[in-house]
Amino acid sequence: MCGIVGYIGNRQASDIIVKGLERLEYRGYDSAGIALMNGQLDIKKGKGKVETLKNKLEADPSEGDTGIGHTRWATHGAPNDINSHPHVSQSGNIALVHNGIIENYNSLKKELKNKGRTFHTDTDTEVIAQLIEEVYEDGEGVSFEKAVRLALKQVVGTYGLAILHIDEPDRIIVARKGSPLLLGIGDGEMFIASDASPIVGHTNKVVYLDDGEMAIVTKEGYEVKTIEDVPLTKKVHELALSLDEIEKGGYPHFMLKEIFEQPRALADCLRGRLNVENSSVQLGGLTDIMDRLEGAERLIIAACGTSWHSGLVGEYLFEHLAKLPVEVEYASEFRYREPLISEDDVMLVISQSGETADTLAALRTARERGALALGICNVVGSTIARDTDAGVYTHAGPEIGVASTKAFTTQVAVLTMMAILLGQKRNTIDSAYAARLIRELNGIPEKIEKILDHSESVKNMAELFTYAPNFLYLGRTYNFPVALEGALKLKEISYIHAEGYPAAEMKHGPIALIDKMMPVVVIAATDHTNDKMISNIEEVKARGGRIIAITGEENSEVIDLAEFNCPIPETEDCLSPLLTAIPLQLLSYYIAVNRGCDVDQPRNLAKSVTVE
Ligand code: F6R
Repeated sequence: MCGIVGYIGNRQASDIIVKGLERLEYRGYDSAGIALMNGQLDIKKGKGKVETLKNKLEADPSEGDTGIGHTRWATHGAPNDINSHPHVSQSGNIALVHNGIIENYNSLKKELKNKGRTFHTDTDTEVIAQLIEEVYEDGEGVSFEKAVRLALKQVVGTYGLAILHIDEPDRIIVARKGSPLLLGIGDGEMFIASDASPIVGHTNKVVYLDDGEMAIVTKEGYEVKTIEDVPLTKKVHELALSLDEIEKGGYPHFMLKEIFEQPRALADCLRGRLNVENSSVQLGGLTDIMDRLEGAERLIIAACGTSWHSGLVGEYLFEHLAKLPVEVEYASEFRYREPLISEDDVMLVISQSGETADTLAALRTARERGALALGICNVVGSTIARDTDAGVYTHAGPEIGVASTKAFTTQVAVLTMMAILLGQKRNTIDSAYAARLIRELNGIPEKIEKILDHSESVKNMAELFTYAPNFLYLGRTYNFPVALEGALKLKEISYIHAEGYPAAEMKHGPIALIDKMMPVVVIAATDHTNDKMISNIEEVKARGGRIIAITGEENSEVIDLAEFNCPIPETEDCLSPLLTAIPLQLLSYYIAVNRGCDVDQPRNLAKSVTVE
């Protein structure tokens, strides 16, 4: 949420920063801005996307080899020109960009106003710029660095910050608490970013800052310290991202590219982890904690949004295959309850970005109470990935479209592998069945490919339903979470109201909504609930509802009953979400495109929700 880019070196900073902001735009896109050091602090910013900033800079270029930039997702203050970042101190000598929320900004603002400072924006961020300046001007011999440190000690909340001071033009100071920041190490130049994508193509050497750390960044290098001024030696990581992965590659939208990438993403996720010959699963990240996981009394899964939906699929998987009791929690609720957790519990958090604030907090809550903390993340080196005791990466590659697609299917694939592995360790899974599942899972990328080959029929169907005002999604067992996920996909990118329900719950209320205007998407994989789903379909039809069925290609009963069909290859019950999710992603994508929606950057949303 909110993207930060910084550059210091010998090149024109604005080119690098604007390109970086374009790559980060999925983190927030209601305004964008840049501050360059060129004898003065040259600031250009305003409401709108990075494109607007780019046009401004083209019309009126700004020079400078040192600068910071920001793309915003508004928290405090409307998304307008004044509230966009960078923000400056009263004298205009300090400019900074910020990702996070300053919780005590009201009291700090009051104090600073009493000292004669005037504020021009509604943001919490302006308070930090003013506070740093107050400390800088107030104390004798206080350096820029010391002023930042002393100011941050007064701040309550979260921040990723990049700060410039006109008195020390040869440096950028950055600080992190709760919002991700990393440094890219170049040759005679340094990069700063809130995630790795702006750095790709410039350097593959990165240093991840941790909470409570700041860095003084110059052309020649960097110095990392704690906020308490204790120098640190940080590990330099090698970045494995390539430019191809973060570009659209000929697709009109990242979302479509990412939907079509799923055969590859799933293959990467499964590679080296499944052994079909000896029916085994290897998850290297879990080796050291396997004994503890095996003896766990209970698994708690915490996540948000789409990742929470994959967690729900995980509940069915772990209970079925490993006979392990599971609770699936909204991370945001879990953290503010008084959850009863013991050392015998295992907390598994799921997060594509690895930065979601509520998920991170749930993880820390469980750890504090002694639970083993595991993670399933996509972004390598993300905060959650680094904060867990052990975990498994999904290896889906960068997901840039705001709506999660390949993150969901790869998370479900990891959960499936974990559940099979645990079932084998706990002797709760029949060996012939395990062998069948492993073989079938290995073949899932090919089956997804087949579904994608028929994307045209989903596109045609989407035309018919583009202007439906509401949708209902129904599923049972493994496909109940898929119903929730299908509804979420549709509402977030097409702004159509959609609800997902367990099919049997329909009779307890939602059935009242059904009439001939209501498309009902039935996720009816050919499984042990097939007969029940058929009854539910009949109930909808009897009330005039229009059935769109996502069903097994051999499920003639459902196919005959439904008005529209998206047949998928048959598979094992517990693997069906890996296939049924695909037509639902396509359906929401094509509907949103038909409605002229901004598919990759839907209104009000941002990827990587790093604020509560
Ligand atoms: C929906 C979507 C969100 C995320 C949620 C959690 O398409 O993308 O609901 O799933 O914000 O994000 P992560 O997985 O990064 O923790």
